Amino acid sequence: MKEIEIVTPVTSKSYPELTEIERHLVDAARQAVKGSYAPYSRFHVGAAILLDNGVTVTGANQENAAYPSGTCAERSACYYAGANYPDAKFEMIAIAALDADMKEPATPTAPCGACRQALLEYETRAGHNVAVLLAGADEIYRLPSIKSLLPLAFTSF
Ligand code: THU
Repeated sequence: MKEIEIVTPVTSKSYPELTEIERHLVDAARQAVKGSYAPYSRFHVGAAILLDNGVTVTGANQENAAYPSGTCAERSACYYAGANYPDAKFEMIAIAALDADMKEPATPTAPCGACRQALLEYETRAGHNVAVLLAGADEIYRLPSIKSLLPLAFTSF
């Protein structure tokens, strides 16, 4: 028997400690939250994806009275990017949120499991790591890749 330890490297930064590009993407994710339609959960999420063609694509969670028909911010952004820029590679993604009081949670908002799996496919297609920024009011987490968010991920190839 052997034990395997899986480590997730996370850097915690304050907003001023971000690079200019990181700040741009966090700003875009925070702006994207305004497009959230979340009358049921009242949890508003925005995502911004920087593509290698220089375009920043954004998305926000879209809920529905038939609850499972709604979609998360991350998947609305990544599917939009995939549909409209099929040849562009993802470089970086930022995620931000506002709670029911329209306040940014102190701790960073992380993608749900389904979004991690969906995003991983775009990292695989890019052929390189896609950096992840998880914005919170007090600190912003930076992870080097989508796969670091989803250890032991399912993959069919
Ligand atoms: N949500 C996202 O947009 N992204 C996630 O990764 C987690 C959850 C949304 C779905 C739902 O509209 C609301 O947040 C509450 O779960």
